[in-house]
Amino acid sequence: MPNQPLTGKVALVTGAGRGIGREIALRLARDGASIVAHYAHSKAGAEQTVADIEAMGGTAAAYQADIAKRLEVQALFAAIDTNPGRLDIVVNNSGVSTGGLLADLKDEDVDWMVGVNMLGPLYIASEAAKRLPDGGRIINFSSSVAKYPLAGAGVYSAVKKAVESFTESWARELGARNITVNTVIPGATSPGMMDGSPEYRTFFENASPFKRIGQAEEIAAVVAFLASPEASWVTGGHILANGAANT
Ligand SMILES: NC(=O)c1ccc[n+]([C@@H]2O[C@H](COP(=O)([O-])OP(=O)(O)OC[C@H]3O[C@@H](n4cnc5c(N)ncnc54)[C@H](OP(=O)(O)O)[C@@H]3O)[C@@H](O)[C@H]2O)c1
Repeated sequence: MPNQPLTGKVALVTGAGRGIGREIALRLARDGASIVAHYAHSKAGAEQTVADIEAMGGTAAAYQADIAKRLEVQALFAAIDTNPGRLDIVVNNSGVSTGGLLADLKDEDVDWMVGVNMLGPLYIASEAAKRLPDGGRIINFSSSVAKYPLAGAGVYSAVKKAVESFTESWARELGARNITVNTVIPGATSPGMMDGSPEYRTFFENASPFKRIGQAEEIAAVVAFLASPEASWVTGGHILANGAANT
């Protein structure tokens, strides 16, 4: 297909087996990138993403890792070194959320959210920093809940804010190599982690003047822009894509 901005590029998308990550993988593949479709638990989903990309004439492969575990992330990158053997774009999409009141704090919830949402992107970016060529891209994921914290979501909000801080620091560190680093900040989006909470869906629909929540394709479009050569001067930024929802 002509005019594909990412032809010749390889993109790692974490959490590409479902939700927003799957739509990002499909979109970047349509833009010409070869896709490393990472998954943690959704093996069948990641294999479906790969099959869908191949059906449209693209190239993709599925790789498993729990990104909260540094050794697994190192093994993931060792596998990428072998095949496809290069990496240009990293999308730190994987993320998990659970709520709970401060007085009911559970160690396992804290470890899970800090591990997947904050340590995971850090471990991924550390390996990527050793490999990304001039013009590389790192795209991190925060949440509008970090901008408008909700009661009971303090840990999730805080670790997503930490990711935004990573973005600003890494952009300065890697800018000397013409690598850009940005954050996408989605509001409530489907398919994605909102789908199991119909009451929250209604709450977030009413918070936007559009009276709806976002679609994963709309988030993927923002990622596609940041991944593209057109975004060469956009770095250290955070793009809010939440339909002007005020929460
Ligand atoms: N959807 C929304 O309303 C919304 C709003 C704001 C921000 N976000 C952010 O957008 C991103 C995508 O969210 P989503 O809605 O697509 O979520 P989702 O549908 O719940 O999917 C979560 C993704 O995270 C991956 N993941 C979970 N545990 C992992 C682990 N230990 N190691 C590596 N990957 C792991 C999952 O992979 P497996 O299934 O393979 O385990 C899955 O692909 C997240 O960073 C989220 O915080 C989403």
